[in-house]
Amino acid sequence: MIRKISLFFIIFITTSNLANSAAQKNELASKYEANISINNKASLQRGAKYFVNYCSGCHSLKYMRMSTLAEDLGIDEALFSQNLLFNNKKIGETMTIAMKESDAIEWFNAVPPDLSLTARSKGANYIYSKLNTYYQDDSSATGYNNVALPNSSMPNILAGLQGERKIILDSKENPLGFEKVSNGALSEIEYKQLTNDITNFLVYVSEPAKLRRYSIGFWVLMFLFVFTIIAYYTKKEFWKDVH
Ligand code: HEC
Repeated sequence: MIRKISLFFIIFITTSNLANSAAQKNELASKYEANISINNKASLQRGAKYFVNYCSGCHSLKYMRMSTLAEDLGIDEALFSQNLLFNNKKIGETMTIAMKESDAIEWFNAVPPDLSLTARSKGANYIYSKLNTYYQDDSSATGYNNVALPNSSMPNILAGLQGERKIILDSKENPLGFEKVSNGALSEIEYKQLTNDITNFLVYVSEPAKLRRYSIGFWVLMFLFVFTIIAYYTKKEFWKDVH
């Protein structure tokens, strides 16, 4: 029995240590927290536009039907077709991509994963911090490295917007922060806003039904509120003559 208990403690202590050191390594990545609000339609619309412009060349959203997207985000279908449809697609189709897997492996050494469910499986903060923790690294094939996904084979797509940065390490080679090398097209705040919009959009995509549940929830609460008022005055009316 005692041996069992001590074995349990040894396993507990080693695993919690492992978890701790992994957390420490990613302390810098975890400083980047997305500000998610799937009810913010303007942010979702911007996020959809940025995603189509900057990400959809490589990443599919194979569970996202474009007609659902247009409807949920309140974008007119004609406007959507003009601005957000690519590769001669029709609005009833899902957001797949044209790139062949064999080409992707040749170009990037990896197949860009479908991002439909990434916000749910890995979290919004992971996506946001991936987009915010690129830095120059001559030893890597892309010329860049990333704190949230070390040695990522995804190129630094948004470098022109964010600007070039170097990493600052402490004496134990842990990442502490970034040093700006050159300015990008956007200010620091604008870049955070843009990457937050993309993240917000991917959170919506990972569970489109949530947006609908929210709007139903609103009307249920409104109904209860109005009903409570009516019930209160009805009760007052009924009991008026009793006292
Ligand atoms: C030129 C192709 C390309 C473009 C454009 C691109 N990516 Fe990627 N992305 C990749 C590849 C390749 C990987 C796989 C990286 C790896 O596993 O090392 C990846 C990985 C990712 C991951 C990690 C997924 C996971 O499961 O860990 C996220 C998140 C991501 N990309 C988001 C984006 C977003 C958001 C954009 C648009 C701003 C974008 N990507 C644009 C090629 C691309």
